[in-house]
Amino acid sequence: MINKEQLNSNIPEHVAIIMDGNGRWAKKKGFFRAVGHEKGTKAVREAVEGAAEIGIKHLTLYAFSTENWNRPKLEVETLMRLLVSSLKKEIKTLQKNNIRLNAIGNLQALPEKARKELLEVIEKTKDNKHMTLSLALSYGSREELIKTIQEISIKVKNNVLSPHLINEAVINEHLYTKNLPDVDLLIRTSGEQRISNFLLWQIAYAELYFTEILWPDFKKTDLLEAILNYQQRERRFGKTSEQLS
Ligand code: FPP
Repeated sequence: MINKEQLNSNIPEHVAIIMDGNGRWAKKKGFFRAVGHEKGTKAVREAVEGAAEIGIKHLTLYAFSTENWNRPKLEVETLMRLLVSSLKKEIKTLQKNNIRLNAIGNLQALPEKARKELLEVIEKTKDNKHMTLSLALSYGSREELIKTIQEISIKVKNNVLSPHLINEAVINEHLYTKNLPDVDLLIRTSGEQRISNFLLWQIAYAELYFTEILWPDFKKTDLLEAILNYQQRERRFGKTSEQLS
């Protein structure tokens, strides 16, 4: 269990994580990259259980990007196999912790077996209320924005929507994240400091947190540390400090 005593009541509602460093973790230890990904699934469990304990309502994990399809075929197969085996294994953890599974991304691009397993777990956990875990799979923010623009354009063309009524809410409705609030805190592991086409619209006001820890080494206490760091930030949303107090 996490020691939450140091936390105050300002818990971020939506935390997103770019899980990075599986390959480097494996290389450092002299293992194949696949071993890093496998150990990475254990860190996924740490993050999910930790987030649920802390009381985070929405956790979104970047599990597979649109760009990841360009990795060697064997690595893509390994990641898809790990997705299926994790879903089969972790459904118990999700039910026990009252967590609803959600997925964002172009799910049609996933292999049939992975998509089927994913949709099954989504269906089985749909009434869980404590936290929503969203897996970004075959996800790319630019692809999501293109899809959004296409759908809105069709509505405009068919006179269902007038261009001057297009606002943030209309755009939000067409994103994969339509039922999720904006991201409050974005974490990236492994020391890289970039966004890599993840939730570009949704992180407009997110606090960014970068840690050197490689994803397979990420523990509940590392999540706690990130939240403690978040709680020291002043989120001004364009206002002045004085206006906030
Ligand atoms: C980045 O490490 C990680 C990924 C591309 C995939 C993340 C996948 C997992 C944690 C395992 C499966 C996930 C689920 C949800 C079951 P990298 O390979 O880019 O590492 P590197 O930058 O050190 O090479």
